Amino acid sequence: MNLPEKVPYHLAVIMDGNGRWAKARGLPRQAGHRAGVENLRRVLRACGEFGIKILTIYAFSTENWGRPAAEVRGLLNILEMVIDRELKQLNDNGVQLRHIGELDGLSDMLQRKVCDAIELTRNNDQLILNVAFNYGGRQELVQAIRRIIADGVPPDDIDETLIDYYLYTGGLPDPDLVVRTGGEMRLSNFLLWQASYAEYYSTPTYWPDFDKDEMLKAIEYFGRRERRFGLVPQP
Ligand code: IPE
Ligand code: IPE
Ligand code: MG
Repeated sequence: MNLPEKVPYHLAVIMDGNGRWAKARGLPRQAGHRAGVENLRRVLRACGEFGIKILTIYAFSTENWGRPAAEVRGLLNILEMVIDRELKQLNDNGVQLRHIGELDGLSDMLQRKVCDAIELTRNNDQLILNVAFNYGGRQELVQAIRRIIADGVPPDDIDETLIDYYLYTGGLPDPDLVVRTGGEMRLSNFLLWQASYAEYYSTPTYWPDFDKDEMLKAIEYFGRRERRFGLVPQP
């Protein structure tokens, strides 16, 4: 496979369609979520091959708490299982794990596992894997404003750079490309601030089927885009 010339430095993915993937096979939704985890492994490998440096994945939104309790429990179990089973391999592959969102609502044990995984991998530099779990773009802005006020920041010092710093993604560059699997054409509260000038790609392919070829299509689409950032086209 020829490697694409232009690759997003920071790829953000709304991993959607697990439930419909399972339904199409007559399986329970949880089977779709498990298949989604399997696929994440493939996508991580492909990120390395394509040379993507930051992957942000939307795994659980602040609104997803409203799903049936059994499904919520299943998704929390999956997070725990991924840490238990995949952490060693991720660390061996030089993946730096980060979390965006709130840890509130997770059990004490799960919170500790997440923090330990972040600590263990903090010096890795092959790929930053930024997991959005219990994440909401609005919630992110609320917590940023609260902390800015709590820190006593004078109003005149508040600018875009300062707000960036107070977001969960503080210190990371904005995503270049947001990919949504499962066909919807909306952000569903994902990276509202950071995605201002990201390119957007939506594919009907469900997340468990989003393989390396599908990823290549998204990256090639990105390569054809002219990013203008509000300016006029380059001559
Ligand atoms: C995405 O798949 C995973 C989460 C939102 C946690 P869905 O569970 O939303 O799958 P669909 O959209 O119902 O197919
Ligand atoms: C977005 O998917 C959240 C995640 C992928 C974690 P949803 O399935 O929750 O979004 P809506 O309900 O289609 O907007
Ligand atoms: Mg969905």
